[in-house]
Amino acid sequence: MPRAASRVPRKDRMSKSVYEASAARVYIEGISVPFSYAVYFTRGALAPENPILAEVLGGPGAAPTEESGHAARGTRHATSQAAGKALVYLDAGLVAAQGHLPQAVVSYAEAHADAIRLLAEPRILPGGEGAKDGWAVVEPVLSEIVRHRLCRHSYVVAAGGGAFLDAVGFAASLVHRGVRLVRLPSTTLSQDDGGVGVKTGVNLGSTKNLIGTFAPPFAVINDLEFLRTLPRDVMLDGVAEAFKVAIIKDAAFFEFLADAADRLAAGEQEAVEETVRRAAVLHLEHIRDGRDPFEMGDARPLDFGHWAAHRLEGLSGYAVRHGQGVAVGIALDSVYAWLKGLLSREELDLILSAFRRCGLPTWHPLLAERDASGRLVILEGIEQFREHLGGRLSITLPHGIGRRVEVHEMDEALVAEAVGFLRQAQ
Ligand SMILES: NC(=O)c1ccc[n+]([C@@H]2O[C@H](COP(=O)([O-])OP(=O)(O)OC[C@H]3O[C@@H](n4cnc5c(N)ncnc54)[C@H](O)[C@@H]3O)[C@@H](O)[C@H]2O)c1
Ligand SMILES: [Zn+2]
Repeated sequence: MPRAASRVPRKDRMSKSVYEASAARVYIEGISVPFSYAVYFTRGALAPENPILAEVLGGPGAAPTEESGHAARGTRHATSQAAGKALVYLDAGLVAAQGHLPQAVVSYAEAHADAIRLLAEPRILPGGEGAKDGWAVVEPVLSEIVRHRLCRHSYVVAAGGGAFLDAVGFAASLVHRGVRLVRLPSTTLSQDDGGVGVKTGVNLGSTKNLIGTFAPPFAVINDLEFLRTLPRDVMLDGVAEAFKVAIIKDAAFFEFLADAADRLAAGEQEAVEETVRRAAVLHLEHIRDGRDPFEMGDARPLDFGHWAAHRLEGLSGYAVRHGQGVAVGIALDSVYAWLKGLLSREELDLILSAFRRCGLPTWHPLLAERDASGRLVILEGIEQFREHLGGRLSITLPHGIGRRVEVHEMDEALVAEAVGFLRQAQ
């Protein structure tokens, strides 16, 4: 039998090796592909005096350095000399709230004509989860990229929420096997989680993110000014993802969030910005240091609370937004962790009370829905989660606050008990 090559290249497999076993010859080649991209935090990214976007897209003499206050750029950028050819996509919900943006893009490109060449007026397409409804946004973006003959050194610039960026990013990752994507995330959740990561995707029917790619962006520009027009509940979605990463990775950050709960509930900009920055850094550190950015192994700690979240989103026909689902999913798995003896009652109460003070949901009626056989319909989410991940089931639970543990099975009776606990706690 030929020996199967591990999909994770190890040092000792980096050089070409030849196995001769019986009559079979197996050639195993390890390939290591380095990726690097800068994530900028700024204000007024599209104001003509803000140099970041122009520097990212290229143009003579515009190289950002650590000294100029910006992080290093993606390695591939070194090849760009002339003005970057770009198509710009704007989330319609963002434009509805910030109507100046389409013109701001045009003025910015005019002011930085040496760095940016717009191939068309900025295109406004629907945002929100509807953007991920199959090919709704992907198809028009794909055809435009092709029509405007973008090459692999051209840019798709997308400004919008996490759903919009997932859909536009998916399209960009497909043409020529990937044109450069510059993301300008415009929600708390996309700035502190989805928009800074390496995944794209859309939904198919009720299955979240069934179709998608791993495609690191060329650069990410988090403009904190975008966050000012977010409705309060959408703003809280990014707070839910911040709690997620704090509870499993960073007790001090959890303490900050719990202390700031009332200010977050009031939408106080300073508290929101601090939350987004710290959560973004934790997500990025995980992607960089976790040694599995393309999720080839079993564990996916950043998906704490997500098996139930994705199921609630799908079951509700996406009426439940991702961040709301994540809040309820974290509450459910935290109660489960307490029932398993992984969290103390005091720790559980700290989590649930911080959620309530922030205004994050800890309950949804779909949690209690049962099928004809009496089984909670939410439980199917565990199997869907395993399928999405591949291999054996791996679910991250908190083990005390700031630490985590992977479990490989979920006790259905205990999940039901956790659901009952949350219903009672309402
Ligand atoms: N790729 C990843 O790794 C990853 C990670 C986490 C989440 N996600 C995905 O992100 C999506 C959720 O993203 P989200 O929470 O940003 O919500 P969203 O993209 O659904 O946006 C919510 C609403 O806010 C509007 N909007 C966007 N920016 C605005 C602004 N500045 N002012 C006013 N309104 C604005 C949008 O039009 C939309 O109606 C989900 O589909 C989720 O699966 C992806
Ligand atoms: Zn999430």
